[in-house]
Amino acid sequence: MLEKIVNIKSEAALQAEKIDSPQLLENFRLKYLSRNGMLNELFEEMKSVDKQKKGLVGKALNELKNSLQNAFNEKKSFFETDKKDISILDDITLPGKKFNTGTKHLINQALDDISEIFRKIGFNVYEGFEIEDEYHNFDALNTPDWHPSRDMQDTFYLDSKGKDKRYLLRTHTSPGQIRVMEQSMPPIRVIVPGKCYRNEAISSRSLGMFHQIEGLYVDKNVTFRELKGTLDYFAKSFFGKDLKTRLRPSFFPFTEPSAEMDVECYLCKGKGCRICKYSGWLEILGCGMIDPNVFNFVGYDPEEYSGYAFGMGIERTLMIKHGIPDIRMFYENDIRFLKQFK
Ligand code: DAH
Repeated sequence: MLEKIVNIKSEAALQAEKIDSPQLLENFRLKYLSRNGMLNELFEEMKSVDKQKKGLVGKALNELKNSLQNAFNEKKSFFETDKKDISILDDITLPGKKFNTGTKHLINQALDDISEIFRKIGFNVYEGFEIEDEYHNFDALNTPDWHPSRDMQDTFYLDSKGKDKRYLLRTHTSPGQIRVMEQSMPPIRVIVPGKCYRNEAISSRSLGMFHQIEGLYVDKNVTFRELKGTLDYFAKSFFGKDLKTRLRPSFFPFTEPSAEMDVECYLCKGKGCRICKYSGWLEILGCGMIDPNVFNFVGYDPEEYSGYAFGMGIERTLMIKHGIPDIRMFYENDIRFLKQFK
């Protein structure tokens, strides 16, 4: 009988290993562990074993019982945990769980989009400093100290006591031009995106802080025509092919000649309305050919090099593109506003 027990034990162990479904597990239970199973049969048989051998056979039989039971329990718990996992997927037609992920803010999206438009035609991105000194923000941009933009009312000056220079929050991204030219020699093609600050009364058009993108191209024989072509390419890429643009003569201390670019009014499509002050046009950027004085400040020979620059306000550009009436809407973080621009 001992031999029989050993045989059944190894046979059952082999079978247990192969169990890969609840059905096979049930077959295993019926064969060995159920009321009419082999184990009970063996216990019946043990009754007729000789007294001397009973101890030995009993021990072997108990061992068999334990190993069958263990094998069964192990597989059972395996199928039970597996079943729990499967039950989550029981109804695969249920709607999924929604995770509200954040998205890029409209301003950052625009900075990325515009950077990409210029990257395609060979411009690199340079990030200047939000805290600038007077020299880079004004002097080197040919902005003498009598110029209105240096007025205390426009500029946030920082407490520079004990410092060798007077520091301020940059009023435009144009000092980025100077920083790039100080560091490298032409040919240069960069854009400078970033925050700017002006000490102005808060209104639907101004909030003390805003974003600009500056553009700078310096090389030999750069012409106004290239500036015009580049801006035209930008406007068509960003606003769409159908929006009309125009250049209008203007003045900036750091460019000569200077111009401003207008786009057709988004509201009246050029007919004239309250938004465009009945001109049909909205200004989006300033530009021009770099003034020779600026080249002198950075040590470039104005006889050898020429270049163009431009600077545009991002909030303003987006207000025109999407018809946003108030600059404060960008920063109120009202989800109903922001999610329209995902
Ligand atoms: N910095 C000017 C402003 O903030 C914009 C500007 C005009 C930038 C002409 C330029 C430029 O680079 O050439 O109003």
